[in-house]
Amino acid sequence: MLYRKISGVEGALSVLGFGCMRLPVTAGGAIDEPAAERLMRAAFDGGINYFDAAWPYHEGKCEEFVGRALEGYRDKVTLVTKLPVWLVREPSDMEDFLERQLNFLRTDHLDIYLLHSLNGDRWRRMREMGALEFMERARAAGRIRHIAFSFHDGIDSFKEIVDAYPWTMCQIQYNLLDRNFQAGREGLDYAAAKGIGVVVMEPLKGGNISLPVPEELKEEARLAGYASPNLADLGLRWVWDHPGVSVVLSGMTTPEQLAQNLASADRGLANGLSGPERRFADRVWKFFTDRVRVPCTACGYCKPCPQGVDIPQCFTNLNTASVSGNWEAQGRNYRYILAPDRDGKRASACVNCGACVPKCPQGIPIPDRLREVAAAFESEA
Ligand SMILES: NC(=O)c1ccc[n+]([C@@H]2O[C@H](COP(=O)([O-])OP(=O)(O)OC[C@H]3O[C@@H](n4cnc5c(N)ncnc54)[C@H](OP(=O)(O)O)[C@@H]3O)[C@@H](O)[C@H]2O)c1
Repeated sequence: MLYRKISGVEGALSVLGFGCMRLPVTAGGAIDEPAAERLMRAAFDGGINYFDAAWPYHEGKCEEFVGRALEGYRDKVTLVTKLPVWLVREPSDMEDFLERQLNFLRTDHLDIYLLHSLNGDRWRRMREMGALEFMERARAAGRIRHIAFSFHDGIDSFKEIVDAYPWTMCQIQYNLLDRNFQAGREGLDYAAAKGIGVVVMEPLKGGNISLPVPEELKEEARLAGYASPNLADLGLRWVWDHPGVSVVLSGMTTPEQLAQNLASADRGLANGLSGPERRFADRVWKFFTDRVRVPCTACGYCKPCPQGVDIPQCFTNLNTASVSGNWEAQGRNYRYILAPDRDGKRASACVNCGACVPKCPQGIPIPDRLREVAAAFESEA
C-alpha cells in the first residue's frame, strides 16, 4: 500500500480508502454483516486505514454496522463520517446528529467530519444555520478532529465554498469520465493549490469504469501494455496519477474487487501512468462518452422512491446495454432483477411525482429518463 498525507491530519493515509456505501448486501438488501465485516477486516489487513461512512448509506444502517465492525482496530484507522445537511431543520439538529453518529460508531471522536453533499444552496443555508461554528465547537471539545465537506455542484459553488473557510479536506466526485463535471479537474487543482486535501469519491463512476475491456478497445489496450481484464485498474490509477489527490475511495463489494484494487493501489503513484496508458484512458473516455445514456453513478441518494422504483438499477441496465450493445441480455437481466415479486419496481411504475429529482447529485431529470428505460426494456415484457 502507498500512503499520502493531508496537511494537518495525523499519520499517513492509504491511497485507497474504503467507501462504506456499497457494502455487500443480502438478497433482501440488508447489509450482509459477516461478509461486510470480513471485507473491512481484509481491507485493513491489506493496508487500508481510511474508512468513509455516512448517515444515509444502507438506509441508515451503515454507521451502526461500521462501529461494530471496527471494534478492536478503530484507533488504528482514520474514521470519517458526515453531517446529513439536508436533514438539518434547526441548529440543535446538528448536535443531535453528531451525538447519535458517535454512538453508532462506538467512538468518542471522528477523525474527519464532513458537511455531506454540499451544493451552493445547501452551503448558504448551513452557513446561516451556524454549521461552521457548530463544527468548531465540536472540534474544540475533541469530538471531531478535522472539518471538511463533500460536494456535488458546479465549479463556481465549489470555489465559493473552498474560499469561505480553511477546510482540512474536500471530497469530490472525480474520474476519467467526469474530468470537467462538478468540481472537476479545475476544482481539484484549485483546492490542492490551497493546501486542502482532496479525497476522491466515485473514482469508477460507481462501477461504470469497471466493465471488462470492450472488444473495440482490446487492441489499444494491448498497445498500451494494459493487461488487466477490466477497466477498474486504469480508472483508479488514472485518479492517483493526479498529485493533488490524497485518498481515492472505492466502494468495494466483493473480496475479488478488494484484492484487485489493493493491487492497483500498490501502483497508485502520482504521475504514475505511462504515455500510452494516458492515451488509452483518453480512448476509454471517448468510448464511454459516445455511449453512456444517463450519467447515473448508482449512489442511491434518490432512494427511496415513493413508488418503489429501483432507479439506480434501471439506469445501470440502460447504460450497460448502451455501452456493451447487448440490449437483449440487459433486457432479460432487467426483467429478472425487477420481477413483479421483488421489492424493486420497474421504470414504468414511475408516476412522475418528482421526489427524486432534487436528491440526485448528478442533476438527472429522473422521471424523463425512466421513460426511456421503460421503452427500452418493457415493451416486450
Ligand atoms: N459524499 C458523497 O456525497 C458521496 C457520494 C458518493 C459516494 N461517496 C463515498 O465514496 C465512496 C466511493 O464511491 P463509489 O462507491 O461510487 O466508488 P466506485 O469505485 O466509483 O464504485 C464502486 C463500484 O465499482 C465496482 N468496482 C469497484 N472495484 C471494482 C473492481 N476491481 N472490479 C469490478 N468492479 C469494481 C463495484 O460495482 P458492483 O458492486 O456493481 O460490482 C462497486 O460497487 C462510496 O462508497 C462512499 O463512501 C460519497
